Amino acid sequence: MITLVETVGALRFPSPATLTCMPTPQEILEELKKVRYPGFTRDIVSFGIIKDIEIAQSGVTVIVNATPNTKPEILDQIAAEIEGKIAAMTGVPGIKVQFEQAPAARGGPAAMPARRTIPGVEHVLAVASGKGGVGKSTVAVNLALAIGALGMRVGLMDADVYGPSVAMMLGAGRQVRVTPQRRIVPLERFGIRYISMALFVGDETAVIWRGPMVTKLESEFLFNVEWGNLDYLILDLPPGTGDAQLTITQRVVLDGGVVVTTPQEIALLDVKRGVAMFQQVHVPVLGVIENMSYYLCAKCGHRHELFAHGGGKRFASLLDVPFLGEVPIVRQIREGGDSANPIVATNPGHPVSATFKSIAANIISRLAVSNARPPA
Ligand SMILES: Nc1ncnc2c1ncn2[C@@H]1O[C@H](COP(=O)(O)OP(=O)(O)OP(=O)(O)O)[C@@H](O)[C@H]1O
Ligand SMILES: [Mg+2]
Repeated sequence: MITLVETVGALRFPSPATLTCMPTPQEILEELKKVRYPGFTRDIVSFGIIKDIEIAQSGVTVIVNATPNTKPEILDQIAAEIEGKIAAMTGVPGIKVQFEQAPAARGGPAAMPARRTIPGVEHVLAVASGKGGVGKSTVAVNLALAIGALGMRVGLMDADVYGPSVAMMLGAGRQVRVTPQRRIVPLERFGIRYISMALFVGDETAVIWRGPMVTKLESEFLFNVEWGNLDYLILDLPPGTGDAQLTITQRVVLDGGVVVTTPQEIALLDVKRGVAMFQQVHVPVLGVIENMSYYLCAKCGHRHELFAHGGGKRFASLLDVPFLGEVPIVRQIREGGDSANPIVATNPGHPVSATFKSIAANIISRLAVSNARPPA
């Protein structure tokens, strides 16, 4: 990332006598910090795409790094917003936004840190949601177990440092060990290796992490855990599409992303954001899962449509991404999550466990197609 000092240091300063009314490079950079990278909560300066700012008598030129595969509409949006912000500053006679092609890291803007693979881990999948509370962790845990039930070696990383819930849902105590090489040994339950912030601080502790600490922690969980040989590592991302999610998509080579939603319109609008987040950084969207799709009565087996179900499918089709399946509201799903006995592990014969396995099989086959790399 280009820091303020480096950026300012790289600027070509015109003669002060001719440009007394022009804003300073720092002032321009401050304005650019108010422009968000489309689809993200992060600004374009911290995203590292501002390469240079040139100030001349004719006006200001902002040079932006763009990877070759950044969509033209994204570039247009960035240019329009930069122009809008600088035009609002006094003393700028003209503005030019110039895109420079930079070599693409695997996905994502050029100045991002290079993404790494995790030694021994064949595929990494991220489970995301545009909105909180839609059952992302529940889906991530049961999906991990369903992939495991298909004969794969699976790990689960709770990337939600602010609201970790994987440890509660899988629960195998808190005895995290560290190797003499200072690597974290994940816990294991039902054959799933997992790691969660709750194992270090407890479920009830309110964790106040600042951005850089979150970044460091996410990296530790990805690269400093003895995952061993895994066919799949599933990442339960925090809800939303902010910095923590972005850090992950920037640091590790992701094979695919899954977006979880509920059928209410309010959640569906956020599907778009979740899908866009993966698309912006060129991670294949494996599909959308509609959770709490309808209510399955334990007594009569009747299906009740509490919300207008089917919105997930409709949105997936609108966004041109696959629809992976519907998971009903079932009491045992909640009870299984609360008591560290997830339904796929403890009641494999339940219709919902079959649903998770079919979604898992669907994901595996889509992954095989999307990166032409069959599962190990
Ligand atoms: N299909 C379902 N049927 C019944 N209960 C469910 C279902 N899915 C999730 N729940 C329950 O809903 C609550 C929220 O689920 P969960 O914690 O998985 O959501 P989340 O999206 O991960 O939330 P957060 O945004 O806080 O991370 C939990 O109590 C969980 O047991
Ligand atoms: Mg969660």
